[in-house]
Amino acid sequence: MKIAMLGSGFIARFYAESLHAQRRKDHVVMVYSRNEKNAKRFADDYGLPHYTIDMEEAIAHPEVDVVLISLPNHLHEAAVLACARVKKHVICTKPLGRTAKEAKRMLDAVEEAGIFGGYLEDLCYTPKFLKSMESIKKGDIGRVLWAKSREAHPGPHSDWFWDKEKSGGGAIIDLGCHCVEISRNFIGKNIKPLEVMCWADTQVHPIDAEDHAIGLVKYANGAIGQFEVSWTFRGGMDLRDEVMGTEGTIWINSFLRTGFEMFTTGKGGEGYVAEKAESNTGWLFPVGDEAHELGYPHMFTDMFKAIEENRDPLETFYDGYVVNAILDAAFKSAKTKVWEPVILEDWRGEEPQDDQKQFQSYDKDHYLIKEELLPNGDMAILLKHKETGEVTRKVSH
Ligand SMILES: NC(=O)c1ccc[n+]([C@@H]2O[C@H](COP(=O)([O-])OP(=O)(O)OC[C@H]3O[C@@H](n4cnc5c(N)ncnc54)[C@H](O)[C@@H]3O)[C@@H](O)[C@H]2O)c1
Repeated sequence: MKIAMLGSGFIARFYAESLHAQRRKDHVVMVYSRNEKNAKRFADDYGLPHYTIDMEEAIAHPEVDVVLISLPNHLHEAAVLACARVKKHVICTKPLGRTAKEAKRMLDAVEEAGIFGGYLEDLCYTPKFLKSMESIKKGDIGRVLWAKSREAHPGPHSDWFWDKEKSGGGAIIDLGCHCVEISRNFIGKNIKPLEVMCWADTQVHPIDAEDHAIGLVKYANGAIGQFEVSWTFRGGMDLRDEVMGTEGTIWINSFLRTGFEMFTTGKGGEGYVAEKAESNTGWLFPVGDEAHELGYPHMFTDMFKAIEENRDPLETFYDGYVVNAILDAAFKSAKTKVWEPVILEDWRGEEPQDDQKQFQSYDKDHYLIKEELLPNGDMAILLKHKETGEVTRKVSH
């Protein structure tokens, strides 16, 4: 694929590094930046044949197969609409929109134009995440009951993130979009998110938006998704997921403490360690290959293969829209302090069914509550009578 990059900032560089690494065959050929100096510097750094300060020119360039949006949140919609006008495939960074309404307009535009719309949710493509999903799909941890995802760091690097109008919110929109989509994958994307309860506050930074939030997303099958997001966390970037199922558990630590620990006095050099690392001396927790740890290579492979194979990628514009709808409910709940419904005018998954909890039988009269091997070697068996509800304990030697 030949790619036009829109934007030349932080994520554009991460994406370009990932795309141009390891002899990959998909390359950026054009960059748009509103500032000519930045556009030229980006083109020089990555050896691109073309650069421009005109977004429409970048998108319409005849060499370009697919457009990669790496612009601030308030510019995603205009860029997607411009791609739809000239029928160029588009892949867009997260969050898709600032609200579900905005995301829905983008979704409609790509579908009406018949172009590809890929949602660049990189944290759903990390090697650890993909492996966890395989295990969950095989049934290794049973039915998923609770999925918790946490992203916390000391706050973003550019002015526009801190401006609620441009970003659409604070830590909830910036980091919550990752966490919500991670839990949706674990719980099942065809399971309808019903309602959200969220606490949010501005604890540290002098901004209008929230810099810390915790939310619960209730799903139609009884599962619960939990997100924990912060722009006030000190100590680097904390990316952790936990999944609890009826038959097992998964814990993932994607960034800090991944098994690589290093000490330096700092006298030798003072380089970059990893995204949002707050220190480059003393004990450090670097990552081996940052792009891989964050999922970018697998993400781009899936996107470009999906275009070639004329199929959906793992993460679509529709997913981006659902995430925005969940976050809309989170923002509302943080204000009203009650559970708020997730409003999905376009729901493509399963319709919610009546509660159908099934308990494990021990014999024809009893449910099994649990079994536990005791220190003396006895097995304690806790039972509930199906008719009377009486709870009893049997011990087998
Ligand atoms: N893990 C991830 O997937 C990840 C990580 C970081 C950022 N992002 C997303 O990437 C997007 C960009 O974030 P970033 O960190 O690269 O920001 P950034 O500020 O580093 O870069 C933004 C780019 O857009 C340009 N820009 C800013 N205002 C503009 C305007 N009015 N018109 C035209 N160009 C303008 C800037 O010059 C810069 O090139 C955001 O949507 C953000 O949420 C995703």
